[in-house]
Amino acid sequence: MALKFTFLLSVVLACVAAQSTSYRVCVSSSSTSQCQSLDRDDSQAFCTSVESRVDCALQLARGTVDIGYFTEEELLVLADLQSTDHRVVATIRDSTRQDPVSFEAVAVVPNSHSGGLQALRGGKYCHPGLGEPTLRWSPRVEKALEVAAAGTDRCPDADINHKTAEEMEASTLSQFFGESCRPGAWSANATHDAELKRQFPNLCALCGPNSQCDYTIEMGVNIAGVNNNNAHIKALECLRTGGSVAYVAWQHAKEFFITRNPEAAGNFSILCPDNSQVALTAANLNLNTAPCAFVRQPWSAIVASTARATEVQASLRAWWPTLVSPNDGSWRSTLYSILVPTWSNARVNFEDTLLSPANYTGPIRTVPSSHSATSCIPARNWCTVSEREFLKCQWVRSAAYTLGIQPTIACQQRNNYFECLRGVRDRQVDFLATPANYGYLARQNYRLAPVKLMQNQRTNEKSFSRVTALLRNSTATSEVTRFENLKGKKACFPEFGGISYVSFVRTAQQIGVLSASECDYAKAVGEFFEGACAPGALDATHALSETNYDATPLCTACRSANVTTNFTCDWNYNDNLYFGNNGSLACLADNEVHVAFVETQNLAAHLTQLNLDGNQFRALCKNNSLAINNGIAAIDDNCLLSYVVDSEVLTRRNDPAFNSISTLLDTLEKYFGYSASAGTQHINLEIFSAFDGTNDLLFKNTAVGFSEPTAATTNEPAKNYVELFQHLQACTGAGSNIPVPGLANRSFYSIFTLLASALLTRFVVY
Ligand SMILES: *[C@@H]1O[C@H](CO)[C@@H](O)[C@H](O)[C@H]1NC(C)=O
Ligand SMILES: *[C@@H]1O[C@H](CO)[C@@H](O)[C@H](O)[C@H]1NC(C)=O
Ligand SMILES: *[C@@H]1O[C@H](CO)[C@@H](O)[C@H](O)[C@H]1NC(C)=O
Ligand SMILES: *[C@@H]1O[C@H](CO)[C@@H](O)[C@H](O)[C@H]1NC(C)=O
Ligand SMILES: *[C@@H]1O[C@H](CO)[C@@H](O)[C@H](O)[C@H]1NC(C)=O
Repeated sequence: MALKFTFLLSVVLACVAAQSTSYRVCVSSSSTSQCQSLDRDDSQAFCTSVESRVDCALQLARGTVDIGYFTEEELLVLADLQSTDHRVVATIRDSTRQDPVSFEAVAVVPNSHSGGLQALRGGKYCHPGLGEPTLRWSPRVEKALEVAAAGTDRCPDADINHKTAEEMEASTLSQFFGESCRPGAWSANATHDAELKRQFPNLCALCGPNSQCDYTIEMGVNIAGVNNNNAHIKALECLRTGGSVAYVAWQHAKEFFITRNPEAAGNFSILCPDNSQVALTAANLNLNTAPCAFVRQPWSAIVASTARATEVQASLRAWWPTLVSPNDGSWRSTLYSILVPTWSNARVNFEDTLLSPANYTGPIRTVPSSHSATSCIPARNWCTVSEREFLKCQWVRSAAYTLGIQPTIACQQRNNYFECLRGVRDRQVDFLATPANYGYLARQNYRLAPVKLMQNQRTNEKSFSRVTALLRNSTATSEVTRFENLKGKKACFPEFGGISYVSFVRTAQQIGVLSASECDYAKAVGEFFEGACAPGALDATHALSETNYDATPLCTACRSANVTTNFTCDWNYNDNLYFGNNGSLACLADNEVHVAFVETQNLAAHLTQLNLDGNQFRALCKNNSLAINNGIAAIDDNCLLSYVVDSEVLTRRNDPAFNSISTLLDTLEKYFGYSASAGTQHINLEIFSAFDGTNDLLFKNTAVGFSEPTAATTNEPAKNYVELFQHLQACTGAGSNIPVPGLANRSFYSIFTLLASALLTRFVVY
């Protein structure tokens, strides 16, 4: 009996113990297949799927997960934003190396060098290359010597207008150094990169014969243990054969001078950030830690929530006693493969003291505060419209700053898109992504221009803006079969100046029922219809400041939610029952209204919600004839008035910072977009994905990347979007920074009307 009881008790205790030492481990949502093999036998760990490691950090801080792995650069971001929320329980090191850090970046110079960093002026600079993948150097690491020697972070007398950060940097370097070799991408924008290399050829002149700014110098025979294809070895060979300075990793400098060219070691020194020089003696070369370094990088690490760090470490020690994977097919092996990256020779090193990320990284490497840092191009302010979005922006800012991406980002919060649009216009903030629905108002009222258009998921119809014109069946059969017939009728629009409104104006201009010389879109529509609902038409956020037109006719068909007031032109769901796409449908259904212009993305859902049958409507197509059949299924792509991207990034038209914002966005896409694979990303933050479980922050989740705001793009919906605003652009010079494309392209209106409308605009608008 007693025995039985003891047995039961121990079972119960074991269960309790298992329960209490069950850890939630962050697993990337793209690799959850590991979770099944973790969740088996007596496993004491299970998966929590996260969109990114940034999401993991947020969950750790909140206590909803217990363990996660973070890269070297991610630890620096944690140190910046969550300095005391976590503990480093183990670092991941290379078992073949004794180095206390994952790399050190050093400057090697000939012994004959004297005069410190400033004396490198005019010298021959040998760099391993930007974006060189093997050692995972961030741009900040790659450029540390350049900042220290050439002062690329300051350009007091330079004209920065219309220049990019990359251009300022290359220009400063080109003036400071003589013939050099600095391979790799100087800009994430390939066109810009090629342009810079043409402009500053001395920075590629030392790379070797027939080089495209890649090392082609003669490397000689391969020595066992040293890889001649390694970019750092190439940079050192560039130095040995006449260079003035090589900026390389200490581990490769050791290989080079111990194994490959021992005879040369005596002729070279390390140049320190404090301008001192240390000879490469045999004793110095055998040091695990360089005599001095421009950057020392902490090893990546396994991090636990502060509350559970001690028990997590004790458990991991028990599960991985050999510090490498048990490799026995057990859940412990699976846990190892989740938490330890797959580089060869990776080994866990349990830390004796459980330090916060800030205390762990601090003594090894600190990134100067963004507030105290200098830069050529001042920080650009990103406008956000909610607290969640502001938080995501803060992480993007910190991640981009930590990596050394220029210009730096600052985040600001406003209450809505219109406050942001006004803020950009008034130079309080600089840029933001907005829905295509505000494209017209942003251009016309706020004088902004697109710096990028979003690329949407090509096969996801709902990720685009698709606008159609819907008639009630009875109207379609009796009164309206062409756009001409709409004159004097009543119309509903989701919002004044919105994408459906502009799509109608453009189509009507192209068909010829609205005059192409009328640049006031409120007047054009207000006088064409005999009453309409275009919510917002009277509000200062939407109304056109230049017009004398009284837009009241654009509100007469709206319906107030307040039964005591008949008139409304409000642009919110609460006060105006006909606001929005669903409101326009309701307007069409229960009114004397003849036509509604709506986006089709959620049409079926709206119809269901409003208890309407789609078959009571018929589309009027862009080719000025009715759709063949009733119903929304009959609306094919050719029938649409618009098929365009769903959002764009806006900034001030002709702003001196326009180009630098454009390439900043290219750089952000390179490091945090879908083209950056999670495996090689320095900082696993996904700008186009959900952030901490919330969709559509900074960018809509439908975005997959950027495209250029030019009609020359191969992206059809982007091209359509640019063309949608070409008339407006001809009217006001609005819409874009890019030159107006050749007049021959403008098939829809003649050169005469174009010129006439341009002249008229000056007359009307100014
Ligand atoms: C970036 O590349 C595009 C072509 O892909 C080009 O049109 C644009 O001008 C480039 N930006 C800069 C700043 O050169
Ligand atoms: C190193 O310097 C010595 C003396 O200046 C010179 O004789 C020797 O050739 C140099 N060695 C190399 C490899 O450059
Ligand atoms: C971090 O360092 C500070 C200052 O040395 C110290 O007060 C604090 O206790 C440390 N915290 C952790 C978690 O290591
Ligand atoms: C349209 O949708 C919004 C929110 O999705 C809702 O508040 C509003 O009541 C709807 N309008 C109509 C007319 O159903
Ligand atoms: C107009 O376009 C619609 C939709 O593609 C098509 O069904 C219809 O046949 C076209 N009408 C004419 C006259 O081309």
